[in-house]
Amino acid sequence: MLLAVEDLKISFRLPEKRRLEALKGVSFFIDKGEIYCMLGESGSGKSVTAKSIIRLLPPQAHVEGRVCFKGSDLLSLPEREMRGIRGKEITIIFQEPMTSLNPTMKIGEQVAEVLMVHEGLSKREALERVVALFRELMIPQPEDRIHAYPHMLSGGMRQRVMIAMALISNPSLVLADEPTTALDVTVQAQILTLMKRLVKGKGTSLFFVTHDFGVASDMADRIGVLYKGVLVEEGTVEEIMSKPSHPYTIDLIKAIPTPKKGKFDIPLLSDEGETGTGCPYFSRCVRRDELCAVEMPQWLHLTPTHRVKCFNVD
Ligand SMILES: Nc1ncnc2c1ncn2[C@@H]1O[C@H](COP(=O)(O)OP(=O)(O)OP(=O)(O)O)[C@@H](O)[C@H]1O
Ligand SMILES: [Mg+2]
Repeated sequence: MLLAVEDLKISFRLPEKRRLEALKGVSFFIDKGEIYCMLGESGSGKSVTAKSIIRLLPPQAHVEGRVCFKGSDLLSLPEREMRGIRGKEITIIFQEPMTSLNPTMKIGEQVAEVLMVHEGLSKREALERVVALFRELMIPQPEDRIHAYPHMLSGGMRQRVMIAMALISNPSLVLADEPTTALDVTVQAQILTLMKRLVKGKGTSLFFVTHDFGVASDMADRIGVLYKGVLVEEGTVEEIMSKPSHPYTIDLIKAIPTPKKGKFDIPLLSDEGETGTGCPYFSRCVRRDELCAVEMPQWLHLTPTHRVKCFNVD
């Protein structure tokens, strides 16, 4: 096991002494070479989970729990040691690619800088590695492209540069936060196929965040379904696709379009608000009963790898 996240809780201080609980005690693990997809709608807590793993949340975030990576709890490491891991052993591809590329620096130099900082390579050696990786990512004419500035690239090319930046240090774990959502469907499919091939080829583990069930089912070895800061179901991709068991997961799968209907998006339903102590899906659930309103279900294990938090599983 490469990463074990245990009982992770994230809350934010809001004005007037209010608190927002963004993550309510989430646990999962990722094995070496495994692709774990965290699937959930907007605001469910996917990005805060990814950012908390490498401690990139803003200071107003309060984080509890453990993030065990290669035998250390990252949440309690001194920042100095964390800096040696962040960007080298664990890298992140952010949801907003343009915010993480420097517009005034050539893309080749930006990616090469990772190697110069973490591995002490010369600029020339580093750029050679960048060209080779650009080639693996099927960036055309990589020897020329390294001299381009971010604004000169299409969205799809920029996203490939982001992926290159995340992979160039041969990390053990890549955190990818909706890396292709802004792209059109065919470009998205090409980039995801490449990314999967690359991480599988290198034995890199991938924590992949998405709101798109179709994308998760193409990418994942295992899927965790997150709803309002609670992991409500988890299983192998086959288990989740063939026997989805949480009413939320079932609703998500029903919403996957046939190819003719085009891109899938989770429909935005009315949200009647929190139910306090009960199940977070209560207000939208077709199987709810009185117990669900007041008590949060614990994990029900369906197989050694498939678990669900619901009182009313078929
Ligand atoms: N810096 C912050 N300050 C206050 N609240 C925050 C902050 N960052 C995130 N949150 C809140 O935490 C919750 C989870 O946010 P998060 O960004 O993880 O959602 P997400 O699942 O990534 O959604 P999306 O699909 O829209 O990216 C949301 O309610 C969000 O408003
Ligand atoms: Mg997000």
